[in-house]
This record gives sequence, structure tokens and C-alpha cells, in this order.
Amino acid sequence: MLLLAAAFIVAIVLLLYMVSPLISPKPLKLPGAHVVVTGGSSGIGKCIAIECYKQGAFITLIARDENKLLQTKKEIEKYSVNDKQVVLCISVDVSKDYEQVENVLKQAQEKLGPVDLLVNCAGTSVTGKFEDIEVNSFERLMAVNYLGSVYPSRAVISTMKERRMGRIVFVSSQAGQLGLFGYTAYSPTKFALRGLAEALQMEVKPYNIYVTVAYPPDTDTPGFAEESKTKPLETKLISETSSVCQAEQVARVIVKDAIQGNFNSSVGSDGYMLSILTSGMSPVTSITEGLQQVVCMGIFRIVGLFYLGSFDSIVRRCMMQREKSENTDKTE
Ligand SMILES: NC(=O)c1ccc[n+]([C@@H]2O[C@H](COP(=O)([O-])OP(=O)(O)OC[C@H]3O[C@@H](n4cnc5c(N)ncnc54)[C@H](OP(=O)(O)O)[C@@H]3O)[C@@H](O)[C@H]2O)c1
Ligand SMILES: *[C@@H]1O[C@H](CO)[C@@H](O)[C@H](O)[C@H]1NC(C)=O
Repeated sequence: MLLLAAAFIVAIVLLLYMVSPLISPKPLKLPGAHVVVTGGSSGIGKCIAIECYKQGAFITLIARDENKLLQTKKEIEKYSVNDKQVVLCISVDVSKDYEQVENVLKQAQEKLGPVDLLVNCAGTSVTGKFEDIEVNSFERLMAVNYLGSVYPSRAVISTMKERRMGRIVFVSSQAGQLGLFGYTAYSPTKFALRGLAEALQMEVKPYNIYVTVAYPPDTDTPGFAEESKTKPLETKLISETSSVCQAEQVARVIVKDAIQGNFNSSVGSDGYMLSILTSGMSPVTSITEGLQQVVCMGIFRIVGLFYLGSFDSIVRRCMMQREKSENTDKTE
């Protein structure tokens, strides 16, 4: 009896501990807000820009290719909901020079006001076997995918803290939740964003700034089509175990989660399972989210082990087939 009472009290205390940081943020109001999207001229970034524009936001698009930017600007403007809305284009490499990134963001803020939502979506990928990937690709991917998200965020954070409001989204990837064959150069850059996001969120939460990490699955975009051209067979076969998403759908989920200030943003049932499995010590934004993680984690680990087993067997089969064909080549 005494033990039961003690357990009950411990449970209540734990619950209170859990609940105390769980005050959900106030949703961001998109009408009239200034949204900056890096990588906004293509794929997921473009769809995020369109989604925000449709909800009345002012948009700054950042990417390198000016023609692509102007074309995208025209495309986005078709969705205007009032005649005050503006789409600003900035051509800059987000990964090269911090000062330059800071300067262009200053200019954008002079024109459209302080940034309410920054979406770090500029990114690129290279797949291949570890030994086949050029050494400088490791550096380039880290620069674009990781530093290319650090620089714009670093450039807007002080103003956000002064205003005690703001949202920052990092577009990671499911490859930022688990390492898969062929992604030795790409995965680490997307894992890095998660570490950045967790640490930054703890710093800025008292300033009413909320960070979101998005983990999109394979998504039909120009970037994805380009990557698919050089994917190893193993990577292709593993990818085919789940379906390809539409960029519009992925963008809708990311914008919704950014507005609500959710730390995690994922799409689909695989995405849901991965977000639970990898929740680790990441911040929670609601009680239900925390409870789902506590209840489902063990079960999902079992499901995950089956997935891992099937991936391993794909890799082994490919290796054996390759060796067999090499041997027959030799005997001929
Ligand atoms: N598609 C997928 O399956 C998938 C899955 C998971 C995660 N993601 C991530 O989602 C993001 C968007 O992917 P996506 O498939 O939509 O890509 P995408 O179609 O290739 O578009 C990439 C965008 O980033 C810009 N960009 C690239 N390097 C840049 C740089 N150094 N500085 C400034 N802008 C740069 C590109 O414009 P410029 O080339 O003109 O600069 C373009 O606007 C990436 O971070 C990607 O890793 C994609
Ligand atoms: C992660 O975000 C998605 C929505 O983007 C949500 O459906 C899911 O429940 C979240 N996962 C966890 C573990 O909270």
C-alpha cells in the first residue's frame, strides 16, 4: 500500500516536471509576416514560399541562379491574396561568406521588415560509395547544407531576440535521422543540423523564438532527379522501400509545423516512426507529443530492427551479385 502511494507520488511529480516546459507557443501569424526562404527557387523551398505567400506573407527568396529566382518570383506572384504582397529575390551563395549573407539579409529587412520566419532550405546532395565520393564533396556538402544554414540564422537571430519573436526552420532529411548506404557525405551534414537546432532552441526559447527541424522523405524535386542519376544500386533499392512524396505536400507540413512552433516536422508513417525513434533528448512542444514518444519508442525499435535487417540483406545481395559477375568476367 505504502509502495503504491509512493509510486503514485513519484508519477505525479514526474508528470509535473514533464508538463512544466510544455507550454505550447502561440501560433505565428503569416498574413503580413516576412518569410525568408533559402533555396526558395526550386523544389521544396519554392513550395514553402508559395504556401506562405498564399497565406498572405511577404517573401524573400535566396539562391544563386538569378534567372531561376526571377522565374520562381513570377510563378509565386500568381498566388497573391492582396496587392501589397512582395516577392524579393536575392542572389547569393549562403555557404561562402558570412559578411555577404549578413549584408543581403540586412537589405531584405530594410525593404520588407524584420524576418518573422527563416526557412533554411538551400541544400544539395551527393551519393556514392564512401571511397568513390570525391574528397572535396565532403567539404562542399558540409559548407552548403550546414554552414549554409548557420550563416542566415546567425544573421537574423539578434533581431529576433530583440523583438522576442521569430521562427527558424532547418530542413534536414530522413537521412539526418539514420545513416543509409551511399549517404556518407550527405547524412552527416543533415545530422549536424539537428545538433545545431537542439542547442539553439535551448538558447532562444525564453525569447519566444521557436526552432523547427524538418525531416523530409524522398521528394519529387529537380534536386532529387539530379541525385537519382548517380545513385548506387543499393541506395536505389533501399529508397524504393518507401514511396516518393510531392514537394507541395512536404511544404504544407513544414509550414504548418513552423507556424505552430513544433520542434519536429515529419511526413508520412515512416517519418512518424523515425521522429519517435530519434526523439532522444530533443525538446517537446506538447504533452501528447511527449506521451506518444514514451509509449511508442520500444515498439518502433522492434519495427526498425526489421527494416535494418532488410537493408542489410539488400546490401549483402548486391555485393554477392557484383562479385559473381566479376568472377564470370574473369573466367570468360
Ligand atoms: N528532394 C528530396 O528528396 C529531399 C529529401 C530530404 C531533404 N531534402 C532537402 O531539402 C532541401 C531542398 O531540396 P530540393 O530537393 O528541393 O532541392 P533542389 O530542387 O535542388 O533546390 C535546391 C535549392 O537550393 C539552392 N541552393 C543550392 N545551393 C545553394 C547555395 N550554395 N547558396 C544558395 N542557394 C543554394 C538552389 O538554387 P541555386 O542552385 O540557384 O543556388 C535551389 O533553389 C535540401 O536541403 C535537401 O537536402 C530534399
Ligand atoms: C513530428 O511531426 C509530425 C508532423 O510534422 C507529427 O505528425 C508527429 O507526431 C511528430 N512526431 C513526434 C514524435 O512528435
